[in-house]
Amino acid sequence: MNKHQKAIEKAAEFVETKRDNAQKSPWQLAYHITTPANWMNDPNGFSTFNGKYHLFYQFHPYSPEWGPMHWGHVTSKDLVHWEEQPIALAPSEAYDVDGCFSGSAIEKDGMLYLMYTGNVWTGPDHDKDLKQVQCIAVSEDGIHFEKYEGNPVISEVPAGLDIHPYHFRDPKVWQEGNTYYCVLGSRTNDQQGQVLLYQSADLLEWEFVSVLARGEDGFSFMWECPDLFELDGKDVLLFSPQGVKPRGDYFKNLHQAGTLVGDWDRTSHTFTHDDFTMMDYGFDYYAPQSTLSPDGRRITIAWMAMWESQMPEQEHDWAGAMTLPREVWLDAENQVRSYPVRELEALRGEMQTGDLKPYIGELQVEFDLKKTAIAEMLLRVGENGEKTILRYDAITEKLELNRYNSGVGPGGIRRCHVPLRDGKLTLNIFMDRSSIEVFANRGEKSMTARIYPAAESTGFDVKVSAESTISSVLYWPFHS
Ligand code: FRU
Repeated sequence: MNKHQKAIEKAAEFVETKRDNAQKSPWQLAYHITTPANWMNDPNGFSTFNGKYHLFYQFHPYSPEWGPMHWGHVTSKDLVHWEEQPIALAPSEAYDVDGCFSGSAIEKDGMLYLMYTGNVWTGPDHDKDLKQVQCIAVSEDGIHFEKYEGNPVISEVPAGLDIHPYHFRDPKVWQEGNTYYCVLGSRTNDQQGQVLLYQSADLLEWEFVSVLARGEDGFSFMWECPDLFELDGKDVLLFSPQGVKPRGDYFKNLHQAGTLVGDWDRTSHTFTHDDFTMMDYGFDYYAPQSTLSPDGRRITIAWMAMWESQMPEQEHDWAGAMTLPREVWLDAENQVRSYPVRELEALRGEMQTGDLKPYIGELQVEFDLKKTAIAEMLLRVGENGEKTILRYDAITEKLELNRYNSGVGPGGIRRCHVPLRDGKLTLNIFMDRSSIEVFANRGEKSMTARIYPAAESTGFDVKVSAESTISSVLYWPFHS
């Protein structure tokens, strides 16, 4: 057994000592991806290989806090039912000894390649004293990975450009013709976020191509987890900028994730684009990554948690989860829309209407609203006073998610603009034991949040102001 395999084995043994606790947690999610125990952040290596979806994730198997990153791994045939796989990567080499940071996966010659960032701390200040390099690991069966002997495959940033030497991470790789490309998260020396583009013929030797995009002065100090893909005739750069200042109802999450929609010129390797737009307006959505489904849909998954947020499940030996897989597309105004994949309908039990107790399942409410209407929905209501409030104001056309009384855990309010379409508003709300994902008008806007009510808090109410109507209220409990 080599060093890497030993590190994996040791981590796996430790996870078993916490599994029961984590799985018995009353907040444990029923149909979202979580760890067997302990900490998770970003989705990594979202891909298809040998007829299955593969999703890896940033995993700290030794505690419910962030620490030296491993890669956890799950697979699925349908994006709905996920099977736990052995830990795929563990820090074990001089170049990744303090963490196998985020990255991606791609099939080549019948093998699954992972490209990830090796992280090394070179001193006590984790913002300044670090060295990040790009590495490869390869697997024949898609389950057991060997680190490439020639690692790191990118060990330095290109010289002579305004590129910070060490904040250099999160490779997302894809293929076009005979060329592999990858984008990498970066910053300038005076702290503007940017994305670097590289190319390779074989995934092992990489050549710097261009600084593909860079933030304007003061927009963000670092762009993490970039992903570039074609979508309905445009190119979309999806990434997670850190340090964006709130503006009105925008950029209110602790950190943001969003897109630049534009055109990547394949000759000059420049990218012209529109303004940055948020992917989700809730509280807990970060570091999304995409893959293509075999039938050509672009599917994204994000970390359903947030840096610097309270995570009450830590007391039960776990932390963090993935959002539902969401299909993305462009609307007529080149806005990115997203909605949970249709495969999730497989989870639906018998449809209910009337007196509802929505808990683990999907709720769909349709409104017919006058221009001055207020619609209000109370979810996860408890006798102890708990409630999560969704409110729509037809005058301002703002949808508001209020989790101040949602239970233990972080509070707060988020809002987003949802235009009323011919007086109609449809909300699809996916609820799990400690999460809520709200989709307005089937993907126009979404709001995602962790909430921590008591299991008994399953009361529900919906009302609208006079002269407006609730056209329908349907609920599907989900099989977990
Ligand atoms: C994003 C991130 C990445 C990094 C990883 C470390 O959430 O900060 O940039 O690779 O998490 O876990």
